[in-house]
Amino acid sequence: MRTAFPETGRAADALLNEMDSRTAGDIDWRNGRTPLYVFKGSESAAEIGKAAFNAFFTENALGGKRAFLSIGGMEREVIEMGLDLFHAPGGADGHMTTGGSESIFMAVKAARDAHRASGSKIGEQLNIVMPESAHPAFDKAARSMEIEVRRVRLAGDRRADPAAIAEAADDRTMMTVASAPCFPFGVIDPVAAVAEVARDRGLWLHVDACVGGYLIPFAKANGEPLPDFDFAVEGVRSISADLHKYGFCPKPASTLFFRDAEDMARAAFDLDVWANGRFVTHTIAGTRPGGAVAAAWAVLNHLGHDGYRAIARDLLANARAWREGIEALQGFHMFAEPDLTILNFGARDVDIFAVADRMAKGGWLPGRTQNPRGMHLMLSMFHAPARQDYLADLGAAAEAVRREGGASAAKAVY
Ligand SMILES: Cc1ncc(COP(=O)(O)O)c(C=O)c1O
Repeated sequence: MRTAFPETGRAADALLNEMDSRTAGDIDWRNGRTPLYVFKGSESAAEIGKAAFNAFFTENALGGKRAFLSIGGMEREVIEMGLDLFHAPGGADGHMTTGGSESIFMAVKAARDAHRASGSKIGEQLNIVMPESAHPAFDKAARSMEIEVRRVRLAGDRRADPAAIAEAADDRTMMTVASAPCFPFGVIDPVAAVAEVARDRGLWLHVDACVGGYLIPFAKANGEPLPDFDFAVEGVRSISADLHKYGFCPKPASTLFFRDAEDMARAAFDLDVWANGRFVTHTIAGTRPGGAVAAAWAVLNHLGHDGYRAIARDLLANARAWREGIEALQGFHMFAEPDLTILNFGARDVDIFAVADRMAKGGWLPGRTQNPRGMHLMLSMFHAPARQDYLADLGAAAEAVRREGGASAAKAVY
């Protein structure tokens, strides 16, 4: 039955109470029972983010240049900080978006427009060659722009295989991709080796650092042996990095950077087509929450380099402890050597989806991967207190499947 539009309004208190009671069926995310969707760095980062978001709750980032100069200024500073963090050369530029998917959409559009500017014709079938593990946001953008996507095999360590990219690329290839890290396996692609192919073949290389952009630099500063992934690598032409993931900023907030400001300018929607005059945006979105911009500015300034380094230290220690705990249980193994905080593991002697089904019954949202058939975790500080319970329940679930058998018909869904 359709929900009728309310005849009369209701008091705020009643609504807040009702909404609160509606969360009874939600996964207990505050206590680390969902392996994705939410992120926590520290209490104080969450608090300042919320306060800043609320302080600029009504402002519209679309008006950041004309009305809300405060928001426009903060957005500029967020971008400058990102350019600094990602070793951008002079002449680089960037902008905020509402999330990783929008950053990727605009990067694909920029690469498409650059390819067109270099002489390819409208109607010519362009393609993106990318590792199998790249995020579907590239496919969404490609479908919207009628670009073919060629997903190519990974190397044995489940990282991008530069040879496979080189093999699949042709003169209509407008973009290739390296992830830092990829979502399925949590490994950082060999950006330098992919960049070499990109330089050789004249391909636009986008680094999807939506997950790791605001984590890898700090983990590296802590001495983690992680590879270069940003503009320090010659041939990286654009980078997406999400503030609302491991930047610990409120949603919706991502950043997109270009080595060359001209690439960004060309991709902008610069329209002078209606009564209200020229309309210029770098995003699909028109209206954007000013709160998200203010919150990003506040969280970056609140944590600073040392705050992010401290969180990175805790996050990686936590992820290692989860990994060791899982591997200490009978029959489980990692599908790849995780570089950061994403784990993907399978089971040798039981159907892991049957284990996942039992975890679901116990109040966990089990992350699943379908190829290979595995379980998946993207860990943040929400998860630290849940580790012992998770491991105990995982071990017990596997034991029960071992004892009682069972194969699951469940499908992996994101
Ligand atoms: C590697 C990677 N890229 C892009 C995205 C898309 O980000 P968003 O969900 O903010 O659109 C994600 C989301 O998890 C991701 O893991």
